[in-house]
Amino acid sequence: MNISVIGAGQMGAGIAQVFAAAGHQVSLVDISQESLARGVKSIDGSLERIVRKGSLTEAERTSTLERITTHTDLGDGVKSADLVIEAATENSELKLKIFAQLSSLAPAAAPLATNTSSISITRIAAATDRPAKVIGMHFMNPVPVMQLVEVIRGYATDDATCKMVMDLSRSLGKTPVEVNDYPGFVANRILMPMLNEAMYALWEGVGGVAEIDTVMKLGMAHPMGPLQLADYIGLDTCLAILNVMKEGFGRAHYQACPLLVNMVTAGKLGRKSGEGFYNYS
Ligand code: CAA
Repeated sequence: MNISVIGAGQMGAGIAQVFAAAGHQVSLVDISQESLARGVKSIDGSLERIVRKGSLTEAERTSTLERITTHTDLGDGVKSADLVIEAATENSELKLKIFAQLSSLAPAAAPLATNTSSISITRIAAATDRPAKVIGMHFMNPVPVMQLVEVIRGYATDDATCKMVMDLSRSLGKTPVEVNDYPGFVANRILMPMLNEAMYALWEGVGGVAEIDTVMKLGMAHPMGPLQLADYIGLDTCLAILNVMKEGFGRAHYQACPLLVNMVTAGKLGRKSGEGFYNYS
């Protein structure tokens, strides 16, 4: 199949990688050559890790990379798509704009999926000419490693689109789980309050960064502590998701910790900016 992936950040690059590794032709689209080059570099680095583990050969690494083409023009990148997957920044205005453009640029038969972590699929679908073919396909980070794809049915998503995305996810070796379209879906509705609570515990002085993360890692067998995971996801993304849930449900329960708000305002976004709860420089 021809898969178009919009956005070459950590999620878009990971999604492009798993489709290319499974034998699909991938068109990776972003607004600048620099973002595309960074995306391809991260794919190459991830493939190299898999080669080192022995589960991919050098030849397969090369052919996977060869199946990925890069585009700065959206129309060019989606013109032959059998499926478009949008993985741009978690910003609703941006996503609505991209989906409105996809209506005229992508082939009429192509389903339009979004990797949004929390934004309403129904709202994104309403910005298009094909709401029945719009669906959430939410991969987890790091995409090549994590088993889950959270598949989100919007109000208008039809059975054929849902089946296609469920089957395709399974063909990538992933386990899709179908859920309905409410703010944060299932994954972030449950994960984000935990990360936010860890930030409140830090802010209120219940424990330090290492103490909070160690309690959750060793006490609950989580692979990463909540503050380390928040840094890994990106603190701006965590804040954006909490805000979507707060607005969508109107519950104080989802109010972002003031420490998170301050850190994002100060540009401390976690791993990607070099500093968050931990220092990465
Ligand atoms: N590409 C390829 N392989 C990778 C990789 C990547 N980007 N990152 C890690 N790996 C592989 C490693 O090669 C290693 O493989 P083996 O075990 O076969 O040797 C394995 O994954 C484990 O990696 P490491 O040994 O380097 O480190 P680790 O044991 O600490 O695992 C981790 C790293 C997989 C990220 C683990 O810490 C983890 O599972 N963390 C939690 C991740 C998580 O919760 N993700 C969901 C975030 S929420 C989200 O994404 C959705 C949202 O909407 C916000």
